[in-house]
Amino acid sequence: MPRDIVESSSARARLDQLWARGRAFLGTDVALMGGAMSWVSERHLVSAISNAGGFGVIACGSMMPDQLAAEIAATQALTRKPFGVNLITMHPYLNDLVRVCLEAKVGHVVLAGGIPPGPAVRAVKDGGAKLVCFAPALVLAKRLVRSGADALVIEGSEAGGHIGPVSLTVLAQEILPHIKDVPVFVAGGLGRGEAILSYLEMGASGAQLGTRFAAAAESIAHANFKQAFVRGAARDAVPSVQLDERFPVIPVRGLANAGTKLFLQHQAATLARFQSGELSKEAAQLDIEHFWAGALRRAVIEGDVEHGSVMAGQSVGLVTAIQPVADIIAELVGQATAALAARGPWVG
Ligand SMILES: Cc1cc2nc3c(=O)[nH]c(=O)nc-3n(C[C@H](O)[C@H](O)[C@H](O)COP(=O)(O)O)c2cc1C
Repeated sequence: MPRDIVESSSARARLDQLWARGRAFLGTDVALMGGAMSWVSERHLVSAISNAGGFGVIACGSMMPDQLAAEIAATQALTRKPFGVNLITMHPYLNDLVRVCLEAKVGHVVLAGGIPPGPAVRAVKDGGAKLVCFAPALVLAKRLVRSGADALVIEGSEAGGHIGPVSLTVLAQEILPHIKDVPVFVAGGLGRGEAILSYLEMGASGAQLGTRFAAAAESIAHANFKQAFVRGAARDAVPSVQLDERFPVIPVRGLANAGTKLFLQHQAATLARFQSGELSKEAAQLDIEHFWAGALRRAVIEGDVEHGSVMAGQSVGLVTAIQPVADIIAELVGQATAALAARGPWVG
């Protein structure tokens, strides 16, 4: 067999060994999760990721239980491969949503948006599904494992959407050496296979990507949304800015646009109305929170990328074209295996 073929198949074997735990946990060919993205991660993108050998995750977002049941059934009609469902812990119908997942035999439930409540954790586990949680720090990672998480995602502040304050570079060093009982998936700012490989070598079991998949051909996001991703540079994907600490703003990373500028003006105007006594503190806080209501849908579905919320990670700078999901996955795997092959033959 020609030497380059031997080296690339040995590199793939090495990669498969590095992420074996993640593949076994997800039941997939590659340990790559498509991070759930509200409005974006629906039946088409989720099934495309799973059919391409990765692990798609439906974003429940604010869906009601019957809508989620319909989305799961539609996804199951498009793929026979495993996929998961991401539920936001503060959803008022969280327990019903868990029940919907279990009734539909969804194998993996991701609980996002804070420490998951005990009853939801127990329901997922008792129902036989695997529980995936987000760990924003080592103490919380340990606590989540003790309370029953079967896998963790550590998501750095480079990510798109709602973010914590710490980069993946630091979170990985803080958490990966110490969490061995469950597989850990890394997320945030990942757009190339070499970077994914480096985290696998630090002890991660797989990776989760959002931004690159949002711009995939199978993503139902509006053409304007995808084009904004192709045009966007890493530095354009910035966290939302809080003007006054008395009025907290949940940090969300997205592309700077007219909406992000108006948000600052809106906060300033609301602050002035509060200071003049026109608005109570609670009313002012609500006014600020309502600014972005419906804004992600406006960008993703309606294509208003100027006034909508164009959530994107810093990895947006690595989106150079609208590609089929299978090509994105092949590219990531190819980059990781090329990096391994360049080191010479591996004796496994
Ligand atoms: C448009 C968009 C919407 C997102 N919505 C959600 C969500 O509803 N729930 C969630 O847990 N994460 C959400 N995320 C985060 C992703 O699941 C993923 O962890 C993140 O995109 C990874 O970073 P990357 O974008 O640099 O790949 C969203 C990200 C984007 C870009």
